[in-house]
Amino acid sequence: MDLNTLKTELETLENECRRAIAEAAGAAALDDVERKYLGKSGALKGMLSKLGSFAKEQRAEAGKLTNETAKRVDAELANAKEKAGKAALDAALEDRGFDITIPGPVVRAGSLHPLTRVRRELEDLFVSMGYAVLEGPEVELEKYNFDDLNIPADHPARESHDTFWTTTPGLCLRTHTSPVQVRGMRWWIDNKFPMPMRAIAPGRVFRNETVDASHEHTFHQMEGIVIDEKPVSIAHLLHSMKTLLRGIFGRELEVRLRPGFFPFVEPGFELDARCLHCEGKGCPFCKHSGWVELLPCGLVHPNVIQSGGFDPEKHSGFAFGLGLSRLVCLRHGVDDVRHLLSGDVRFLRSFC
Ligand code: PHE
Repeated sequence: MDLNTLKTELETLENECRRAIAEAAGAAALDDVERKYLGKSGALKGMLSKLGSFAKEQRAEAGKLTNETAKRVDAELANAKEKAGKAALDAALEDRGFDITIPGPVVRAGSLHPLTRVRRELEDLFVSMGYAVLEGPEVELEKYNFDDLNIPADHPARESHDTFWTTTPGLCLRTHTSPVQVRGMRWWIDNKFPMPMRAIAPGRVFRNETVDASHEHTFHQMEGIVIDEKPVSIAHLLHSMKTLLRGIFGRELEVRLRPGFFPFVEPGFELDARCLHCEGKGCPFCKHSGWVELLPCGLVHPNVIQSGGFDPEKHSGFAFGLGLSRLVCLRHGVDDVRHLLSGDVRFLRSFC
């Protein structure tokens, strides 16, 4: 064979190949074309086997011509395949009515409940001041919830705690976290921990009372107790409470101290804060008084120190009860405490 004949044959083959590519409908047909012309036993490969019949000095040229033809056909084929692939995808998307420009579903991240956040923050704050974090049971013995806190059965103070009693005599849902005062003191002594004893006890408490914007049957408190061998005074108590409030609100709050009666503290106080909702003008949350009860506190009653196992002659201390639920409402401007445990995701999402 001579070079001119080869050229003519290659041209014919290339034209035939291009026509076949143009006529092929879809990817499968293009595969057939590829096999027929470019495959191992395809027509173009067949041309290579003819190279042997060329004179030595023409062989390189003949090989080059054949390879170039094969390359062009190959490029044409790749191009056609890509087009066919796109067309197939478009057709499939159209078929299913799938619109890739519609935004996908929004993935919402979970977050901590505002009560959990405040509890953890306070725990960190107290731990930094040397307090231990204690826990007590939610179903509590009458002894710890009342008797050991200087509230005997016939004491009128019991009536202010609308208690959920269980069917087991002497067992109730705790009405406050104060039972952990006595449990905590006993635990401190049993473990021979060094003095002073400083502890907090956050948790759920329960009261069987009429529910309104500032009362829930289930709410959260955080008890605090400090007992020392040295005399503990109201000045210590006040200083600690001020430090605490600064930590919570990040600024100095206007507060007032009123005498308050709790059988387990003597003297007892109510620490009020200027209502953060209305800045004191009066709103439903503060019952139009401009003040909200924030923190009952006082010096631990000697009878309670005795119940805890310390000697009231040698030990003294202070205690306080933080209303965590109320704190969350104050901080986030929630005007109804019932939202907190409603489980309403619309409410919870506002804290994400
Ligand atoms: N346990 C009291 C209550 O829930 C609050 C309190 C705690 C008062 C500690 C004084 C000291 O009403």
